[in-house]
Amino acid sequence: MASPTLTITDNRTGKRYDLPIEHDAIRATDLAQIRVAPGEPGLVSYDPALINTAACKSKVSYIDGERGILRYRGYPIEELAEKSSFLETAYLIVKGELPTTSHFKMWQRNITMHTLVHESVRHFIEGFRYDAHPMGILIATVGALSTFYPEAKHVTDLESRRVQTRRLIGKMPTIAAFAYRHSRGLPYVYPDNDLSYTGNFLSMMFKMTELKYRPDPVLERALDVLFILHADHEQNCSTTTMRVIGSSLADPYSAVAGAAAALGGPRHGSANEEVVHMLHEIGSAERIPALIKQVKAGERRLMGFGHRVYKNYDPRARIIKQIAHEVFEVTGKNPLIDIALELERIALEDNYFVSRRLYPNVDFYSGIIYEAMGLPVAMFPVLFAIARTAGWMAQWAELVLDEEQKITRPKQLYLGYDERHYVPLDGRAEGGPREDAVPPGPL
Ligand code: ACO
Repeated sequence: MASPTLTITDNRTGKRYDLPIEHDAIRATDLAQIRVAPGEPGLVSYDPALINTAACKSKVSYIDGERGILRYRGYPIEELAEKSSFLETAYLIVKGELPTTSHFKMWQRNITMHTLVHESVRHFIEGFRYDAHPMGILIATVGALSTFYPEAKHVTDLESRRVQTRRLIGKMPTIAAFAYRHSRGLPYVYPDNDLSYTGNFLSMMFKMTELKYRPDPVLERALDVLFILHADHEQNCSTTTMRVIGSSLADPYSAVAGAAAALGGPRHGSANEEVVHMLHEIGSAERIPALIKQVKAGERRLMGFGHRVYKNYDPRARIIKQIAHEVFEVTGKNPLIDIALELERIALEDNYFVSRRLYPNVDFYSGIIYEAMGLPVAMFPVLFAIARTAGWMAQWAELVLDEEQKITRPKQLYLGYDERHYVPLDGRAEGGPREDAVPPGPL
């Protein structure tokens, strides 16, 4: 069978072009040959927000948004959430295969070996104001790690990439917990490497005067599953940021700081924070119709609903909904769950949401569980960042090794002034547009 092609006729010139199709894609650079006349600029594709542009080839995670499917390295998210642990899933994501017993032991040892941070990192965190948002602390501190590990700039060196990956996965919970303790004025708790990855994180968060913190196994497992669900999600905003920064061959600490900054926005990883604020604001089920009315009038968004890729139920939201009940057995029910369930019921019967295919996403229920576990709202995006570090590092390594990748440098459609010439200040006519008469611009 002949290789598939796309035939384009340029109606400006009448010329026909056959563009090869590979993996259901045409190469955007093949469009560049389509031009009105020699010397004129070639055709580009215009795709603000990169809605229909594949910028890389990847083997890490797969999403079928129509059918609500998510797989890491081919394994369904449901199987991993039920049978795996976060550290094992992180190995799978980073290395591409599930570990053997001996490899898993080595991986566990390699990660726990890196849970401590340099004392100067602690001092760095101490420098933040008492009310600093923990996500801001995390972003800044992860970025600062590049100054502790200058060899991380050798991104093409396999051993360096491996060490930085272990360091980042190992240290993220420590930095996150220190950020939280700082905001509470509590002494920092150093890692306890006898505990599991999530057990140790809970210890660093909640240990008080007891000699040894013993995490509740149900909560420890619930957090582990939540970390599994957040570990990777193909080319989302933060992962794309990781790749864009990585494309300049910046070190991975700087790239993770940038990715975390992208994650921190309310359209992305801070949505669960916004969901909990929204549910508190609703307060009781009777007030839901008023909120739905505001949403339908375009005055606000229903946080935790909708997704760029999922046009069906987000499979992670379904798993989280189940975990919620297990967590509530231990913590007591978070009353927000009833409001959330009713909100979901009403929204999914409403044509506004049905016609736009808006379903609960991963963030709709995660915040309710975190809150029940005593994790403060401001920590929600931080928890997301801990888990997503595995995905960011896997995607970054893929980028570094991909011979087709270059520094990311998209095109623009220039719609500004044509050439004009500088007029000295005293030569500009008074009565023309003044600063206070200029229509509101972007800044
Ligand atoms: N509430 C109300 N209406 C919504 C919502 C929402 N949460 N999400 C989308 N819509 C509407 C839009 O108004 C638009 O309607 P229109 O066609 O009448 O203009 C339509 O649905 C399509 O919305 P877009 O903004 O074009 O969708 P996009 O794919 O760009 O946005 C996003 C996806 C950012 C997730 C969006 O659904 C949203 O803002 N959701 C709330 C925030 C949220 O939960 N984010 C977490 C996402 S998951 C994650 O990052 C981990």
